[in-house]
Amino acid sequence: MNLSAATPRRVAVLGSTGSVGRSALEVIAASGGRLRVEVLSGCGNLDLLAEQARQFNPHTVVAADRKKADARKWRDLPEGCRLLTGPEGLAEAAGLPAVDVVLAAIVGAAGLQSTWAALEAGKTVALANKETLVTAGPLVQQLIEKTPGARLIPVDSEHSAVFQALQAGKRDEVAKVVLTASGGPFRTWPADALRQVTIEEALAHPTWEMGPKITIDSATMMNKALEIIEARWLFDLQADQLDVMIHPQSIIHSLVEFVDGSIVAQMSPPDMRLPIQYALEFPERRAAVAERFDWTRAWNLELEPADHERFPALALGFECAAAGGSSGAVLSAANEAAVESFLEGDLHFTEIVPACRSVLESHNFEADPTLEDLARLDRWARAEVQSWVLA
Ligand SMILES: NC(=O)c1ccc[n+]([C@@H]2O[C@H](COP(=O)([O-])OP(=O)(O)OC[C@H]3O[C@@H](n4cnc5c(N)ncnc54)[C@H](OP(=O)(O)O)[C@@H]3O)[C@@H](O)[C@H]2O)c1
Repeated sequence: MNLSAATPRRVAVLGSTGSVGRSALEVIAASGGRLRVEVLSGCGNLDLLAEQARQFNPHTVVAADRKKADARKWRDLPEGCRLLTGPEGLAEAAGLPAVDVVLAAIVGAAGLQSTWAALEAGKTVALANKETLVTAGPLVQQLIEKTPGARLIPVDSEHSAVFQALQAGKRDEVAKVVLTASGGPFRTWPADALRQVTIEEALAHPTWEMGPKITIDSATMMNKALEIIEARWLFDLQADQLDVMIHPQSIIHSLVEFVDGSIVAQMSPPDMRLPIQYALEFPERRAAVAERFDWTRAWNLELEPADHERFPALALGFECAAAGGSSGAVLSAANEAAVESFLEGDLHFTEIVPACRSVLESHNFEADPTLEDLARLDRWARAEVQSWVLA
């Protein structure tokens, strides 16, 4: 791949209408022509998708929801821009020969098929969609091993930090990887108060602006559970090599401890545009649009152990990272369904994690599932959460 302005790196931004997708377009717009948008995709927000297409003039846009796509007139797309629809359209766009890097920024299990298609086509995938590795980590790693050119560069700020810190040593010199967590809006709330949490309170994250699903996941700390599983597969670690520390300032994005006791961390203000840029331009570092650290003021950077009692989601992450097999897919699908129910007002905040545990414990564990098995278990887990909600 070439990064000169004359031959720009061609990017498919899958999930361009979302929080990560919009930040990625800011990074691309500021890249001075080194990055070029080749594909954009959205699902419900099709007017924004068309507006982005007019601004970035991509080769292809994908409207993931076929019904919504059919109901819309597309006269406002730029001339020559091709429209694809549905999950198959996403998969086709992810594998286009004209694409060098696919930014996988669709939320939830819906992101797996297009990420898979991109890797199958031998692309570099800048991976924001953590659910891909949580659901199908071992299968994705096998696919990468057998596909020339296929590779994952993490976009999640914690995993980007680990990816960067790992460059300070050899893989067999790594003792521990510590993911940091802001602690979310309820870090200091007593357990009793958590029962009364409202949707608005759960959606008010103290340090990061993100889409609704990951914001609720941060409030329950399920986000960190999913990230533990993601890190386990992304970096080929054992579950007991992973740990979590609460870091309310969200400046230290994660740490790697080496066998000699040295700790290497990556630090920067909480701004997703930095890890997105790093992933899209890897291995180059360029001046960034992201906010910079203020060296003129005093900073207190705190690290404290996570409270597993108030945030029982964390244990689920470690358990699924250790168990592997079908457990991650079931946890991820149950959590997506539980978060949806919470956002619809059908489930209390403190019921999200127990619902996930109940579904996880009642599932028939499969040690070596296929993609089809995982899709079946995904549907089953969502239905189980619905029964929990109705019970
Ligand atoms: N936000 C962050 O700072 C952050 C940080 C680290 C990792 N991540 C991860 O990045 C992913 C995206 O997060 P986000 O916060 O950007 O989410 P978001 O703001 O909710 O955006 C999600 C994107 O996915 C699209 N989408 C939703 N359902 C879809 C479906 N069924 N099929 C195809 N596309 C669909 C949305 O389209 P419409 O908007 O048009 O409906 C939107 O473009 C998640 O996996 C999250 O865990 C996010």
